[in-house]
Amino acid sequence: MTDASRPAVQLLAVSKHFPDSVAPAVEHLTLAVPRGAVVALIGPSGCGKTTSLRLINRLIDPTSGHVEVDGRDTRQLDPIALRLGIGYVIQAVGLFPHRTIAQNIAVVPRALGWDRGRTRRRVSELAELVGLEQEQLGRFPDELSGGQQQRVGVARALAADPPILLMDEPFGAVDPVVRARLQQELLELQARVHKTIVLVTHDLDEALTVADRVALLDRGGRLAQYAEPDELLRAPAEEFVTEFLGPDRSLRRLALLTVDALQLRRGAAVAVGTSTHDARALLARDGGDWIGVLDDERFLGWVRGTALAGEGSVTEQGLEAPAALVGPRSTLRAAMDRIMTARTATAVVVDEGRFLGIVTLEDIRRALAERAG
Ligand SMILES: Nc1ncnc2c1ncn2[C@@H]1O[C@H](COP(=O)(O)OP(=O)(O)OP(=O)(O)O)[C@@H](O)[C@H]1O
Ligand SMILES: [Mg+2]
Repeated sequence: MTDASRPAVQLLAVSKHFPDSVAPAVEHLTLAVPRGAVVALIGPSGCGKTTSLRLINRLIDPTSGHVEVDGRDTRQLDPIALRLGIGYVIQAVGLFPHRTIAQNIAVVPRALGWDRGRTRRRVSELAELVGLEQEQLGRFPDELSGGQQQRVGVARALAADPPILLMDEPFGAVDPVVRARLQQELLELQARVHKTIVLVTHDLDEALTVADRVALLDRGGRLAQYAEPDELLRAPAEEFVTEFLGPDRSLRRLALLTVDALQLRRGAAVAVGTSTHDARALLARDGGDWIGVLDDERFLGWVRGTALAGEGSVTEQGLEAPAALVGPRSTLRAAMDRIMTARTATAVVVDEGRFLGIVTLEDIRRALAERAG
């Protein structure tokens, strides 16, 4: 039985000193990977990321400290059995060049003694899952593009459906466009398969995009900070973290936070049919020049305060369509872009046609400041 509250993987004061090297590769690393989470290990080259992964599946043993997988000390487990139960996407893919794609994906099922039929069905299913064509399964690795090879690496790691997946720069060898697509695919895949994933990268944006928590390592395998992406950007724990994150931390946060994280205001908005007298009064309280007109929960458009003179009621006629529309899942960065591109002051937030509220640049600024807590 697995206890859902127990971390899937835990490194406890783990150090690794390779013989003949002065500095440790990993130094006193304590890290808990929650079940079902994606944790990114990030840091400069040589800081011990790959070593940390290899300590988890016992490709190497710690000099001191220990590792627990599913609450069990890995020293008590058979290393081969442990490794077969943990998917591993190695740095630079590492496919066997003289084996077909299908054979590459089937490595672990074969090692586990699955019969041919079951293995073939699983390979076919995995191809589908990671977005490979069935006809590609008979090819050799050098007959696939870099992005396709990376998919094979992921499929191979998932073959025996292990609960834990270690991925060492899984998208390192592809261009930024393919990389972004593979990252999105990983997130979609994760939403379906719910693995515990430890992913190594030295790409900050990749870590911030795919991870629930980010572990930033400094040289010598020292853990500088372990936090959720927004917390890392909002509150760097030390100078090294601040420097690693770079000067555009707030912009990165804008790309991370979504509109639904804001306290949305309704702003000055009235239902069609409201008397111009009441609409003028509302606008006077709000202090703006424009008022939004709603039909039930649908946003119809804006009317200028000066068009509300005299008696009568607010109609659907002569409304200005909202120039900046965003959804609740839009990033604050996208909302800001919409506002500036449309040269308006306010973006209207709608969810499947339903009016949720408005966002201004000032709301965005305040959200960043408040959350800086
Ligand atoms: N088998 C080994 N024997 C001796 N030293 C090693 C061994 N493996 C790694 N090291 C050293 O340990 C340190 C950490 O290496 P590691 O491969 O974990 O770095 P990394 O963070 O994965 O780097 P990169 O981003 O370049 O992949 C480096 O200084 C490396 O030279
Ligand atoms: Mg490495």
